[in-house]
Amino acid sequence: MQSFSERRARLLSAIHPGVLVLFSTPTAIRNNDVEHEYRQSSDLFYLSGFDEPETVLVLSSVAEKEKFVLFVRPRDPERETWDGRRAGVEGAVKDFGADAAYPIAELATRLPELLLGASELHYALGRHRQQDDTLLAALDGARRRGRRGAVYPTRLVDAEVKLHEARLFKTPEELDIMRRAAQISGEAHAAAMKSAKPGVNEWEIDALFRGIFRRHGCERPAYEPIVGSGVNATILHYRKNNRVMQDGELLLIDAGCELDYYASDVTRTFPVNGRFSPEQRAIYEIVLAAQDRAIETAKAGATLDEVHVASAEVITHGLIGLGLVEGPFEDAMKEQRYKTFYMHKCSHWLGMDVHDVGAYYRDGKARPLEPGMVLTVEPGIYISENATGAAERYRGIGVRIEDDVLVTESGNEVLTADIPRTVDAVERACQG
Ligand code: GLY
Ligand code: MN
Ligand code: MN
Repeated sequence: MQSFSERRARLLSAIHPGVLVLFSTPTAIRNNDVEHEYRQSSDLFYLSGFDEPETVLVLSSVAEKEKFVLFVRPRDPERETWDGRRAGVEGAVKDFGADAAYPIAELATRLPELLLGASELHYALGRHRQQDDTLLAALDGARRRGRRGAVYPTRLVDAEVKLHEARLFKTPEELDIMRRAAQISGEAHAAAMKSAKPGVNEWEIDALFRGIFRRHGCERPAYEPIVGSGVNATILHYRKNNRVMQDGELLLIDAGCELDYYASDVTRTFPVNGRFSPEQRAIYEIVLAAQDRAIETAKAGATLDEVHVASAEVITHGLIGLGLVEGPFEDAMKEQRYKTFYMHKCSHWLGMDVHDVGAYYRDGKARPLEPGMVLTVEPGIYISENATGAAERYRGIGVRIEDDVLVTESGNEVLTADIPRTVDAVERACQG
């Protein structure tokens, strides 16, 4: 509660003299009358902790009393019998600290008034057409009142700019949650190394992850787990997770929990039978060295582009050494020949969203890392089974290693450092 009100206070001063309007994520039908699991918009949750659908949050830096207003679903004993408890307008004030709360059905009539007095309207126009219509009608209503002398918003500002900049820098309280999420994901990865063996289906490992996440109170995985054995490890977003793994194959698992609305994002790749083959080991060692170099680089002042290039250089050297990429090194780098086997970026921001918000570029240039930012470092090498240019013994091998890194004043902290990662540690963990 304290942290939510501090976030609102910080944002209120950043948007002055303005008003910010955020809508909750709409519910989504899965099929017929069944809905997808509901998850609140990260932005709305960040400022309120309120997790119900059909919610609109208004923050006004110019209002005297009603600086923080919530429109919510009202209490309704009959609906609550079907769908569960609601906070209602009373709960929105009492438990979530709103200065005022109204039933969501009153949004269209009340919103124009709430926009008055502010010269700037902060809103993420274009994300959702129906919400845009509601907002623009309210803005027009405010403008009509302006004819009678009221101040109304004449500038529309993308609400995401200031809000996402704030979300990019994690507070100690947020970092505590992220460390705990990393720990839980680590426990699951270590358990998977022990449990996987020839004859086990990928879905059993998928279930193991989901079970461990839930047992620790995580709401859900931060994204759909990827459990890819054999050639499935070379499919970047493999999600079927339904194949029986075989002796002599690698298993690539990209899975992380979401805890209290914060994501972890971890990949480990290990041999199903507990021992890397010479070819698997050669590829793995290159990815590991690339990750080491990238983590060393991921410090304040460096850019994500530099982190990526650091990983790509190590991978390029390694692949030239194995005869998988043609040298010389300088030409290979210039032509980005590594992209045949390392086709994604090394990093993204991590936070409430797995691919978290926050600008990557400033004035067209990659921005330098600063303390408080959290990023992933996740190099990989994926040699398709159809890669006719590659020696046959390397085809079908996919390796990614992904860790979560906090930039600090003195360097960085790998939040997922306890999860087995070196060849020896991984083989030991596999053998229980
Ligand atoms: N799990 C998504 C990613 O690694 O970016
Ligand atoms: Mn990632
Ligand atoms: Mn991942």
